[in-house]
Amino acid sequence: MPSDRTSGDRTPIVSGNWKMNNNHFEAIQCVQKLAYLLQKDDFDAVEVTIHPPFTDLRSMQTLIDADQLRLKLGAQNCHPDDKGAFTGEISPVFLAKLGVQYVIVGHSERRESFGENDEFVARKVAAVQKHGMTPILCVGETLAERESGLTLDKVKVQVRSALEKRTSEQVKSMVIAYEPIWAIGTGRNASPEDAQEVIAAIREEVASVVSRPAAQAIRLQYGGSVKAGTIADIMRQPDIDGVLVGGASLDPTEFARIVQYRRHAF
Ligand code: PGA
Repeated sequence: MPSDRTSGDRTPIVSGNWKMNNNHFEAIQCVQKLAYLLQKDDFDAVEVTIHPPFTDLRSMQTLIDADQLRLKLGAQNCHPDDKGAFTGEISPVFLAKLGVQYVIVGHSERRESFGENDEFVARKVAAVQKHGMTPILCVGETLAERESGLTLDKVKVQVRSALEKRTSEQVKSMVIAYEPIWAIGTGRNASPEDAQEVIAAIREEVASVVSRPAAQAIRLQYGGSVKAGTIADIMRQPDIDGVLVGGASLDPTEFARIVQYRRHAF
């Protein structure tokens, strides 16, 4: 049964995942342009997070603080441990110290290219929350899984393993992004109705693994080739509370238009 976003307290959340793009100089330009394009009304209606590469975070924190921007700072990943012999990894402690509020965990690019499994992703979810930040947990199926009718089985297992040790209160504040792997960076997206169906099933899974109140409160995003031209139909779906945007978030004009979907849509 789809829930009604307008009656709940689920503020829409639009997140820009820059992936491995924009050095710290380019990041400053991008955010300054975005801040110029977004108005107070936009930030009142939609929470906006940006997820630059690690090497940009300090510059972004300084810019956001100095100009009192209402953009929220996010990271793209972290290690589950606080410290130790993990060459090349970044601790969630460091991210919290830099004013990071959101951390993407279990992105399919990390699961597929860097071998991150469900158990490792669950540890990251716990680590991010331990340090007062909000995880954006990514789940999604491959094209082969979709074509074999395994989409719901796959995402339910991913949701269950990441959440089963979390409390209801912890899950209420989380974000889950449903990102079909075949739609990421390909220009193909799930139809808004297909995305709604999977996202409604994710909400039901949260209810069965955690609690009904957690399922009603958790915010669920769609991700995969979201553009300014497609956002409005996606956000009309009752269970979709936001979007995780990759490629289109690199262009501040396009990303601002995505954040401003209400102006064009309703
Ligand atoms: P895309 O990426 O918008 O470029 O498809 C989405 C993501 O991977 O977060």
